[in-house]
Amino acid sequence: MSEAAASRGVVAKVGEVQPGRTKKFLMVIDGHEEECFLVNHAGALHAYVNRCCHVPMSLDWVENQFFTEDDQFIQCATHGACYLPDTGECISGPPCGKFLTPVSLRLDGDDIIAEGQPPTAGS
Ligand code: FES
Repeated sequence: MSEAAASRGVVAKVGEVQPGRTKKFLMVIDGHEEECFLVNHAGALHAYVNRCCHVPMSLDWVENQFFTEDDQFIQCATHGACYLPDTGECISGPPCGKFLTPVSLRLDGDDIIAEGQPPTAGS
């Protein structure tokens, strides 16, 4: 399995992604393969689809670089929108008030497993 080739399932091992770090992976959501990323913010793990709420573009220009310099926010490289790592809410920039699409995570032993989003009407 390559670094970004997990498709619905184990995306990382516990301890693999340190605080302030991220890891990209692929998974199928609503029948489409989506690039997603795992975030460790202050020891808590979260995952989101790698797509800005402003223009549907990847957040990272530099591969796997999502955090601001101070590791406090996830930042879109295109127009600089900042998102809270814990909730995915945009708190500054063009899509302010919108949320990144979350990916559910669960632990199974040492495995961090991403689970798909339930289909949503109209998406
Ligand atoms: S595309 Fe992300 S802020 Fe514009």
